[in-house]
Parts: sequence; C-alpha cells; structure tokens
Amino acid sequence: RRRDEGLSRDLYQLMEEANRYYQSQLRQHQDKQKVLDYLAFRGLSDQVVERFGIGFAPDGWDGLLSRYRSQQESQDKLLTAGMIISNDNGKRYDRFRDRLMFPIRDRRGRVIAFGGRVLGDGTPKYLNSPETPIFHKGNELYGLYELKQAHREPRQVLIVEGYMDVVALAQFGVDYAVASLGTSTTAEQFQLLLRSAKEVVCCYDGDNAGKEAAWRALETALPLLKPGDTVRFMFLPQGEDPDSMVRKTGKEAFEALIDEAQTLTGFLFDTLTTKYGTDKGNLAKQAIALIEKIQDTVLQNLLLEDLSHRLGMNSADDLKKKLGFKSPQGVASARHKALKGRGTPLRLAV
Ligand code: UTP
Ligand code: MN
Ligand code: MN
Ligand code: MN
Ligand code: MN
Repeated sequence: RRRDEGLSRDLYQLMEEANRYYQSQLRQHQDKQKVLDYLAFRGLSDQVVERFGIGFAPDGWDGLLSRYRSQQESQDKLLTAGMIISNDNGKRYDRFRDRLMFPIRDRRGRVIAFGGRVLGDGTPKYLNSPETPIFHKGNELYGLYELKQAHREPRQVLIVEGYMDVVALAQFGVDYAVASLGTSTTAEQFQLLLRSAKEVVCCYDGDNAGKEAAWRALETALPLLKPGDTVRFMFLPQGEDPDSMVRKTGKEAFEALIDEAQTLTGFLFDTLTTKYGTDKGNLAKQAIALIEKIQDTVLQNLLLEDLSHRLGMNSADDLKKKLGFKSPQGVASARHKALKGRGTPLRLAV
C-alpha cells in the first residue's frame, strides 16, 4: 500500500515534468513554427493555449526519454505512466512524437495523462495515454479541473466529444464544457457530471456517431437520475461539432442553442416515435423498458405520468393498468412528494 502511494507520487511528478517539457518545446523547439501555424490554423489564442497547458511533443524517438538518461528507475516509471513504450527487443522510445499535446488533469489539477493530436491529417488523429495506475479514462473528464477554476459551482455543464471542442468553447466564453475521453460517456463520468452541476447538457458531434452517442448517453444516465437532476440533449447541424459551431455562431447564438436543447423525455419519446411511429403499443413498451431503468421511484413515476399524457391517456395509472407495469410505489403519493415545493406538475425538468 505504502509502496503504491510512493509510486503514484512519482508518477504524478513525472507527468508534471513531461507537461513542462512539452510546454517548453512549444516556446523553444526549432520546429515550433509549424506548431504555431497549426494553432493559428485552428484559431486557438495564446491565452487558451496557456489556460489548458497545451504543448508540443517534438518529432524523434527520445525527446522525453533522453531527459532521463542513466536514470533507470525514472525510465521504468515513465513506462508505467505510459509516456514511453518498450518494443519487442526491449528498446524504449517516446509514445508521443510530433503531436500537439493536451494535458489531462484530475480534479486536483494533477496531470494524469495526455492526448496528442497529429499536426495535420495523419493517423491516429489523436493518440491518448493508456490506462495507468493514475489514469482510468472512464473516470475522468477532460477540462473539469479548468472548468472548476473558472466556476466553483457551475449551474450547467456541457458534455462534448473532443479536446478541441472544450478548448474552442472556452476560448469563445463557453467555459463550462468538458469532454468524455473516448467514444461514449460512462456512468462514472455522468455521476461526476451530476455532482458538478444540477444540469448536464449533452452536445455531441452533428453526425451519426454523435446521435448514437446521445442515445447511449440517455441509457447510461437513466439509472443515475434523481429528482432535481436535469439532463438535456443538443443536436448540431450535420457536419458540425461544438468547435466548428461556436466559431460560426459566436457565444450568444451558441448559448441560445444550449437553452433550446431537448429535454431527456423529449429526446426519448421523439426517438421512439420516429422508430415505432404508428405502433403505439410497441412504443409504450419500449419507453417503459427505458423508464424502468430509473432507480429513483419518484422520478420514475414522473416520467410514466409524462409518457401517459404523450400517449393520450389520463394518468400513469391508466398506462400501468393497460400494460401491467409494476412499480414499488403508488403513483399519486410519489407524484405528490416529487412536486412538493416545485413548479407546475407536467413540465418535467428531466
Ligand atoms: P473527433 O473525430 O470528433 O475529433 O473525435 P475532434 O475532437 O473534432 O478533433 P479535430 O477537431 O479534428 O481536431 C472526438 C474525440 O474522440 C477522441 C478524442 O478525444 C477526440 O477529441 N479520438 C478521436 C481519439 O481518441 N482518437 C482518434 O483517433 C480520434
Ligand atoms: Mn464563465
Ligand atoms: Mn466525432
Ligand atoms: Mn469532432
Ligand atoms: Mn473537431
């Protein structure tokens, strides 16, 4: 145990050193101009580069490694930290080469991983740190530390796909976005989001992958929701992502789009309606299968109530009778509890 703590401490320190190294290369490497050109091409300001600690990993096999020559122990730890790679012959080399570097911080601000973007069109577009003793990507959100620096208690958090989205939004003043590191937003990440703000707005890319990510996010969020939590969904025009969108619209119009984001129930019912259209029975069955995932019975009953109205019935009880749905609590009392001290009954926040 003590050994583990010691190891972690050393890994954090090495990650901080690597971060300082990448940042210094952006200022002083002989190839820095091409990186500055790329930053200009992406429209990133000096201030936002500074704020997110963006750096440059130069081309070459041992830019980082050579700084630890004859320090075998540190090299072993760089390997554990995912910063260097060992090939089949035991030859070691830098993982990140010729890439724009985005440091990923934990909630205490410690650098725990990196995402590295190729400076142009190569593949992979982004190279990320592997899982390490200090980095479990499903538990972290890119930009959460930076967000909390700007807002101690944000009202709203935007969840987006990419590093560039977070950084571009912040540059335009939408400084409350974070990114899930990879394809879908995990339950742990949602838990973290809902602890950070009462309202979470999902804003994935305007493409099929983004739409599918939104639906997976809905399924992931459902079991976690409690009364008062709000999750909404924002859909960008085809081909846009938050980065490209905010550059076109500017802050105000982008925030107007956030305000218009769809409610969770709206998204749920619209999606099922598109899928099952005329087949109301099936629609109800599918909707209920989703609503059953909600652990909180108060909230579950609120959604059932909403569903019953959308299906042209008078109450959740009617709906339950029709479908033989069992819920541990009576609808009326649950509704009463949920709505005590709140707004109008049928305008669901969720
Ligand atoms: P996107 O393909 O939407 O890229 O991936 P992007 O963020 O818009 O990047 P730019 O604007 O082309 O620079 C979204 C996120 O998915 C992860 C990254 O976290 C990326 O930001 N990703 C994508 C990878 O990890 N590796 C990849 O090769 C691609
Ligand atoms: Mn702000
Ligand atoms: Mn995408
Ligand atoms: Mn994108
Ligand atoms: Mn993009």
